Amino acid sequence: MNDNHCLKTEYIKENCKDYVLTMLERIKKFSMETYTHSIDVANKTLVLGKKLKLNKQDLIKLYTAGLMHDVGKLDLDINLLEKPKCTPEDLAKIRMGHIEGTKKYLEGIVDDDICKIAYHHHEKLNGTGYPQGLKGEQITKLDRILQICDLISALSMQRSYRPKLESRTIDRILDNWVNVGELDKFYVNLAECTFINVDNEKIQ
Ligand SMILES: [Fe+2]
Ligand SMILES: [Fe+2]
Repeated sequence: MNDNHCLKTEYIKENCKDYVLTMLERIKKFSMETYTHSIDVANKTLVLGKKLKLNKQDLIKLYTAGLMHDVGKLDLDINLLEKPKCTPEDLAKIRMGHIEGTKKYLEGIVDDDICKIAYHHHEKLNGTGYPQGLKGEQITKLDRILQICDLISALSMQRSYRPKLESRTIDRILDNWVNVGELDKFYVNLAECTFINVDNEKIQ
């Protein structure tokens, strides 16, 4: 397992650490792909958060939310989740099912802030995301950091339905999402320069 997949337990919020570790074990048994992705996302949030000089409290919120953002996938059928070719109906089930599941597993158990960051990871700046269709400033800085780390991790992974994407392709996809107003250009550029070796000029 490479460093992207090493768990940094010191950044899991203390008052829910046992719960988070238990749920993470459940995710691991359920889907190794979701487990490695969750740790990768959490670790990426730490790297960006430290670059942005966030305080320790915010890093802990981001890291814990990163580990738990897809915990709702536990409620999905694994055959659906790992299906090589999903229909639009399958995708709708996965999308809404996992995000509501994430809320169910976190609300009232982890701090509200952490629950919200995890619950917002598929929202888009222009209001086209889900589940709430939040817009602009309703999506906080910490939400935006988790969103880009989630996307860059997902795009960088080999999936059951496609091979690992090249950096240039990931760069193009993310830039397109910026251009249509879904993602924050600043955080996208920072993440691209940090994780997929695109030109450093992008954050100057
Ligand atoms: Fe997700
Ligand atoms: Fe994810």
